[in-house]
Amino acid sequence: MALAHIGVTGLAVMGRNLARNFARNGFTVAVHNRSVAKMTSLIEDHGDEGDFIGCESLEDFVAALAKPRTVVVMVQAGGPTDAVIDALTELLDEGDIIVDAGNAHYPDTVRREAALKEKGLLFVGAGVSGGEEGALLGPSIMPGGPAESYKTLGPILEKISAKVDGEPCCVHVGPDGAGHFVKMVHNGIEYADMQLIAEAYQLLREGLNLSPKEIGKIFEEWNKGDLESFLIEITAEVLAQVDQKTGKPLVDVILDQAGQKGTGRWTVQSALDLGVPVTGIAEATFARAISSQTAQREAAQGVLAGNASGFHIENKAGFIEDVRLALYASKVVAYAQGFDQIQKASEEFGWDIDRGAMARIWRGGCIIRARFLNRISEAYGRNPELESLLVDPYFVDEVASGLSAWRRVVSQAALAGVPSPAFGSSLSYYDSLRAERLPAALIQGQRDFFGAHTYKRVDMEGTFHTQWTGDHTEVEA
Ligand code: 6PG
Repeated sequence: MALAHIGVTGLAVMGRNLARNFARNGFTVAVHNRSVAKMTSLIEDHGDEGDFIGCESLEDFVAALAKPRTVVVMVQAGGPTDAVIDALTELLDEGDIIVDAGNAHYPDTVRREAALKEKGLLFVGAGVSGGEEGALLGPSIMPGGPAESYKTLGPILEKISAKVDGEPCCVHVGPDGAGHFVKMVHNGIEYADMQLIAEAYQLLREGLNLSPKEIGKIFEEWNKGDLESFLIEITAEVLAQVDQKTGKPLVDVILDQAGQKGTGRWTVQSALDLGVPVTGIAEATFARAISSQTAQREAAQGVLAGNASGFHIENKAGFIEDVRLALYASKVVAYAQGFDQIQKASEEFGWDIDRGAMARIWRGGCIIRARFLNRISEAYGRNPELESLLVDPYFVDEVASGLSAWRRVVSQAALAGVPSPAFGSSLSYYDSLRAERLPAALIQGQRDFFGAHTYKRVDMEGTFHTQWTGDHTEVEA
């Protein structure tokens, strides 16, 4: 019997679809699952899509693989992943490759890679985005781990990945945890993008009294321009959906409490450690948290004053265009911040990540796939060292042309009492970046006052302290 090119263990929906994708692309795939029924049903239901080798035990599974053996682990992140890796380690030989294609937290990936390296095994933490459908039809794949692993793995993953302009949405991201880190930031950006879209929806709804269906049509229109993206496209569909039970718009019968599995939170935690302001992602993560604080929301409703003036919009089309421009500008900020976080981590951990390549592999297959990732990839192509996406000449002009609209929308939302945390914080971030002077000078003065934390001066070298409790003279610290 011919040996398998690759194996997949863990056949829940993502693992199952990845296995089918490998098979449909001409690879012989060994498949294994802890409960055998999932493995047999995969072969029963989809065995005609390609060459599968069904394996009941992990020993049979490893024996079915050609060398170097390449195993994709697609089980729950955390303990279950460790358990499968430990079991596999006993059975594999030097040079074999274990790929963790789940949403692992990158420090776990760094730890696992180091431990497996000691045993001569190549461990690859690979981010895979695109949900169930992407896994089957072509996801965006972000593999990290030792470069050597990519010789065997790269061609297989590239083949099954999404393609844009004939280019695969898969590239070797960098060593150890780089792949899972980039996938984590991808998800953080996904949170920000979704929150911004949700804020735009709310503003259109409250500002113009439009129905979800009508707003869905606006999103459909927007999807033909600069905002074209998977998330805008599905937003239009979600808004158009009518609840079969009540006949109301589905969005009106869904509980307004957003869940999360944790990747957004990880992104913000890491950004705090790295000192990178990812305000859009943080606001999006906190907005989900607020939405789920039922007790506080109930305590506040009807108690907290609004003093809101409402919207007084005369030019309906003008307001819609303003919201579109505000959404686009805020989105540029969110992506700029995400790419900053990748850059900072890359420097800190020695990953040498090519941001342009990340933008390229996010153009297709993944949840944040969008037309404007082409522009981002071009910006990093023009200048791989770009300090911020916002200072790339293309984005300078793009944001400038929507700036007045952005300010109008944020101020109208504040006056009307409609929360728009991601729109507002993105605009503040933009204004902070371009400000010649920030009030941080005052903060330094305060720190020096109560803690003698010292400050630097604009007009001379050195570090200084004012003797606040004494005669208020300045001394060199
Ligand atoms: C993807 C998605 C995927 C998943 C997230 C959603 O890239 O395919 O990001 O990873 O949908 O886990 O996360 P939340 O449940 O936290 O919203």
